[in-house]
Amino acid sequence: MATEIHTERLVIREWRVTDAEAALAVYGAEDVARWLAPEMELVTDVATMRLVLQAWIEAQPNMVPPAGRWALVRREDDQVVGGVSLRLLPPFEEDFELSWQIRPDMWGRGYATEASRPLVRWAFGQGVEELFAVARPNNTRAIATARGLGMEWVGETDKYYGILLQVFRVRPDDIREGV
Ligand SMILES: CC(C)(COP(=O)(O)OP(=O)(O)OC[C@H]1O[C@@H](n2cnc3c(N)ncnc32)[C@H](O)[C@@H]1OP(=O)(O)O)[C@@H](O)C(=O)NCCC(=O)NCCS
Repeated sequence: MATEIHTERLVIREWRVTDAEAALAVYGAEDVARWLAPEMELVTDVATMRLVLQAWIEAQPNMVPPAGRWALVRREDDQVVGGVSLRLLPPFEEDFELSWQIRPDMWGRGYATEASRPLVRWAFGQGVEELFAVARPNNTRAIATARGLGMEWVGETDKYYGILLQVFRVRPDDIREGV
């Protein structure tokens, strides 16, 4: 997105290399890392997190909207509380995945939901017709988040990462009802 998105409590903005320490508290946390896409290696130190952020920042201008990765920053104290991304799911790269990663001590406050609503609206403004969320069957928090957003359960598949995933979908018409 060209500009930041502001919600009641959050700013959705591009990642900065200086976010490395705060990002490590998100992506390096065991409770987050265990649910990440199999392709993402475990990040265990700030230096590695910095390299990951550098790669994300460099990739961002080449990603075709609505694809991207963004930091979720709490407006109250400017703290990074998590990240959100929209990316084409492998291997066919036809379906856009909405995914969230929140720092474990910030779970249960509705941040993923609050960030997703305007991001989904923005994505539909870029011309996509549907967005997906995928979660391992035992990832109850992610499934609850997708359902809470009003996303529709469409089934189970192993076509994306070779592991069984629950698939949820949202379309522009659903926005009026929930998202
Ligand atoms: C899945 C994950 C992103 C959910 O984060 P979250 O911020 O807790 O999620 P939500 O925005 O859906 O918050 C919902 C919870 O906050 C509560 N809440 C508090 N204030 C709220 C508000 N203003 N709006 C909505 N929910 C609110 C809800 O009641 C709900 O609690 P419950 O789950 O106990 O019923 C988080 O658990 C996470 O990072 N998990 C690891 C990574 C992962 O699995 N990502 C998903 C796969 S990509």
